[in-house]
Amino acid sequence: MQKNPLILIVDDLPQNIELLEAYLAPQGYEILTASSGAEALEKLASHQVDLILLDVMMPEMDGFEVARRVRQNETMRLLPIILVTALHETEDRVRGIEAGCDDFISKPVEKSELVARVRSLLKVKAYNDLLSNYQKELESEVAKKTKEIKRALKKLKEASLETIHRLSLAAEYKDEETGAHIVRMSHYCAAIARQMGLDEHTVETILYAAAMHDIGKIGTLDKVLLKPAKLDASEWEIMKQHAHIGAEILKDSDAEFIKMGEIIARSHHEKFDGSGYPDGLKGTQIPIAGRIAAVADVFDALISKRPYKEAFSVEKSLSIIKEGRGGHFDPEVVDAFFAIQEEILAIKKQYSD
Ligand SMILES: [Fe+2]
Repeated sequence: MQKNPLILIVDDLPQNIELLEAYLAPQGYEILTASSGAEALEKLASHQVDLILLDVMMPEMDGFEVARRVRQNETMRLLPIILVTALHETEDRVRGIEAGCDDFISKPVEKSELVARVRSLLKVKAYNDLLSNYQKELESEVAKKTKEIKRALKKLKEASLETIHRLSLAAEYKDEETGAHIVRMSHYCAAIARQMGLDEHTVETILYAAAMHDIGKIGTLDKVLLKPAKLDASEWEIMKQHAHIGAEILKDSDAEFIKMGEIIARSHHEKFDGSGYPDGLKGTQIPIAGRIAAVADVFDALISKRPYKEAFSVEKSLSIIKEGRGGHFDPEVVDAFFAIQEEILAIKKQYSD
């Protein structure tokens, strides 16, 4: 049930308060009283007041000052204030308006005028309350929906990432490598990218996209992929096609991860000196993600056992990367790689086969 409006009457003279109360209480309003400005502010802090009838001439804190302080409080910005005044001067009305009062009533107070003004301002107050509640409800509804959408997007993203991971695994399944290679290689890439100053969003995109670097191996013949010896020239040509096949599988996507995956799949075997494949790109013609993936992929291949080789020691693997600085690899990527050598080795340890 809607409660009756609560009116605060502020006056230093008890007989004035009694008079106003006698006029208003029979109208069904709840009445709260204060005999000074300080008491009025106290009562306002502890009650949900709907309207203030405020005497101007009070000792210590006058009505103007009370009104000013009320208006400083954001929650009472729209609380109706009627100034009860013996003053007729325009100047005082201006002061009242400046202090934030909504209306004036002159002493001696005439009952019907008082009731009419109070009723009209309470109507405005009720309308403002309705609007403000409606706005609050809207805001909380929007916040709720935003949360739901975020949750749904997160789920969707997780699902796509899982799909990417499983597809990449499918390609690696044919290989002797385990899924751990994909995970290690992706994390090396992300760590190097971060060290090189790429923004966090790109770092994350690279992290997931790098998992797809060898997805083209799904189209490589098993006898080539699994040959336990060095490949001959024609087998090598077949092996090299995986970069192109991977890019073909991933091309024309609108999804950022897949786009980045296409770039990495195509360019992770390019070499800084231009002697790589499939496009023979040189230096910074090679996309940065491809230059990063080259170091990460080769390092992980070196420290891992492959059909055609045993696992190399960390020391030997690191020195081979160093030798490739400026030739096989972008020197800046190699420098970033060595700057975070500890982190690289921690990733290797964390995701070991
Ligand atoms: Fe590859």
